[in-house]
Amino acid sequence: MASNAGQSTISLETIVSLAKRRGFVFQSSEIYGGLNGCWDYGPLGVELLRNIKDAWWRAMTYRDDVEGIDAAILMHPRVWEASGHVQNFSDPLIDNKTSKSRHRADHLIEGEIEKLRKKGRTEKAAELEAKLAAATDPSQLYQLIIEHEIKDPVSGTMDWTEVRHFNLMFKTFIGPLEDTSAVVYLRPETAQGIFVNFDNVRQSTRQKIPFGIAQIGKSFRNEINTKYFLFRTREFEQMEMQFFVKPGEDDKWYDYWLGERWRWFQDLGMTMERLRTKPHDKLAHYAKAAVDIEYEFPFGWGEIEGIHNRTDFDLSRHSEYSGKKLEYYDDQTKERFVPYVIETAVGASRSTMAFLVDAYREEEVNGEKRAVMRFHPRLAPYKLAVLPLVNKDGMPEFATRIYHDLQRHFKTFYDDSGAVGRRYRRQDEVGTPFCTTVDGQTLEDGTVTVRERDSMEQVRIPADALRTYVAERVGL
Ligand code: GAP
Repeated sequence: MASNAGQSTISLETIVSLAKRRGFVFQSSEIYGGLNGCWDYGPLGVELLRNIKDAWWRAMTYRDDVEGIDAAILMHPRVWEASGHVQNFSDPLIDNKTSKSRHRADHLIEGEIEKLRKKGRTEKAAELEAKLAAATDPSQLYQLIIEHEIKDPVSGTMDWTEVRHFNLMFKTFIGPLEDTSAVVYLRPETAQGIFVNFDNVRQSTRQKIPFGIAQIGKSFRNEINTKYFLFRTREFEQMEMQFFVKPGEDDKWYDYWLGERWRWFQDLGMTMERLRTKPHDKLAHYAKAAVDIEYEFPFGWGEIEGIHNRTDFDLSRHSEYSGKKLEYYDDQTKERFVPYVIETAVGASRSTMAFLVDAYREEEVNGEKRAVMRFHPRLAPYKLAVLPLVNKDGMPEFATRIYHDLQRHFKTFYDDSGAVGRRYRRQDEVGTPFCTTVDGQTLEDGTVTVRERDSMEQVRIPADALRTYVAERVGL
């Protein structure tokens, strides 16, 4: 596939509007005014999302050393105490009493640091940055906001409340009684379902370390500021893999998985100039190393995947909280140890947004504008569109036969309305890699034309060779 390098910057609005118009993504509960931070995938979006998840599943689990699972979204509440989410998974919030706007206190301070830098006051910026890094409780963040006279961007006042912590986990109740003993959480990450199943998977598959467990599933976070379309939402899908290794071999596997994950985006045709890796400045207390893979979205660089060395933190904590030892015995070396974990965590929804943005091009063809989604053929929602040149002389019958035959093998679309040029444009806009046209010659010799989306070149092939022709090029 052609590269995306040099693509002019497109606006997020262009993508959101195309996504809605062509049935990729709709606002959740739109007829009721929408629900903030939630989105629905339409007929084309669900195909794209499934193709991304499928590409990930194949890359990550169709190998000897990684097993797949699908754990329940609701888990025992002690899981979230052990993982640290009950205690730590919160944002520091501050409200402005005049504008009633709510902000993350740390983001306000980061904004101030940015402003100081832009004004050339680098020393002052560095000083504030150091204070922010050292602040461990909400009152220190509040002090920094007051000391630096940081104003509400909405009202311009300093009419602030205290800073309070707000836990991002959604709570609900199991059973009919809504009391504290019945509280359960919607999982905020898929990873914990993997840690608690470490022993089940190891025993049932007889895997030996190093090995991994992968899962794809919904996660929920009550984000304060949802933003940028699918980028930060309250309900989203994650694709996570935890790779269990012997302590001491963790650095090697961390590098290995970073390389694998980088290559995954490359293999799916992502513009490499729009990807970068960014090591974390601040590490979580349990992490030994962490790096983000970031994509350059229309609003700037944003994380799409994290690769983390989580040490033995998770298995040790679950051992402690459950009372069940989660260790590994190496019968070759006769050693017993708690494995270290290398985690790869990517958003299915967030990477769908990255693939949507990355695919979009506006081109000029014979003096006319065409919008084209240059999806990798494996990701494209439809693989083939079948078009009868005219709606007479037996062409629709021939085309319908092809369509019904191929639809059983890959997602195929049938379009008989309007001029062929316009039908091509409609398929370009949703990224269909191939269009086949049934014309007069087809009825004489059984051949059809096949037009390729990016080069717009056409070849003529026997209609009964179409299935193999498309499948080979799409990588099915
Ligand atoms: N288990 C580690 C973990 O969950 P994370 O960095 O919080 O790490 C991993 O999340 C990925 O999940 C992110 O890189 C992002 O792609 C996706 N993600 C996280 N929060 C999200 C949100 N609110 N909306 C959409 N995607 C999100």
